[in-house]
Amino acid sequence: MAASEQDPQGQQPHAEGDEFRYHTGARRPTGAEDVIEFIDVHKAFGRNRVLRGLNMGLPKGKISMIIGPSGTGKSVCIKHIVGLLYPDSGDVVVAGHSIPSLADDELFELRKKFGVLFQDGALFGSLNLYDNVAFPLRQHTEKGEDEIADIVNRRLREVGLANANQKMPNQLSGGMRKRAGFARSLVLDPEIVLFDEPDSGIDPVRTALLCELIKEVHAENGGTYVVITHDIMSARRIAEHISVLWRGQIVQSGPSAELFESENPFVRQFLSGESHGPLGMD
Ligand SMILES: Nc1ncnc2c1ncn2[C@@H]1O[C@H](COP(=O)(O)OP(=O)(O)O)[C@@H](O)[C@H]1O
Ligand SMILES: [Mg+2]
Repeated sequence: MAASEQDPQGQQPHAEGDEFRYHTGARRPTGAEDVIEFIDVHKAFGRNRVLRGLNMGLPKGKISMIIGPSGTGKSVCIKHIVGLLYPDSGDVVVAGHSIPSLADDELFELRKKFGVLFQDGALFGSLNLYDNVAFPLRQHTEKGEDEIADIVNRRLREVGLANANQKMPNQLSGGMRKRAGFARSLVLDPEIVLFDEPDSGIDPVRTALLCELIKEVHAENGGTYVVITHDIMSARRIAEHISVLWRGQIVQSGPSAELFESENPFVRQFLSGESHGPLGMD
């Protein structure tokens, strides 16, 4: 790819030795309407500068993956999308709303459009599976228990947990807890579902099954899915759009087929798991 194509906004090419030399620089249109946009987002914790001018768009209706090494700021991104963290500067725009400028009650309303699946499923330990999955419906809607039962049972069936609905979270395996968290994230028919490392802590077979499930549920329900992972196999299985995050910015983003064919040395090394390349030199 020519330098002029990499830098459509005419940015200076990165010099050798520049820590951002593998980053393609300017924001690339995703080819669809972006439901989630990070615009020049900076976020530091003390001296730890995690997001350093992040520009990222996530296209509507697709399964997008944000992929990058551990500790690079992927979970921090999710927390900005749901308004659990605010940028030091820049903007995070979700479904047309600037998250940092929303009032608390507006943020509360917007959150109803999200389903979030945290790393461990984030189930309430004192509630059985049924009550865990029913929780958002009881908290956010006026629905009666009959209607709630219809929705909860349908979602539990969808993730293969219909027979486990009376179990407590500590009686479930890690994979079951993730599927339960997935069922719960879907009960409000969210437009956006966020998954933080759905593949962490479960074996490769269960990871593959969970990826299949995510794909099936997406095909059935639609919506914008954002999946965060450091697992390349999961990305190969389900990603339609990939953003590679490193050192607080996007190295490269685009349709997954394109990313897996990338000539970028960092992207190549990261997506193919090669031992030689820019990663691991520091
Ligand atoms: N609430 C916080 N307070 C201080 N540091 C944080 C906080 N959240 C994340 N960090 C730091 O930000 C960096 C990125 O974290 P994270 O987004 O969790 O990485 P990952 O890409 O593995 O999800 C790490 O160095 C982490 O220690
Ligand atoms: Mg994380």
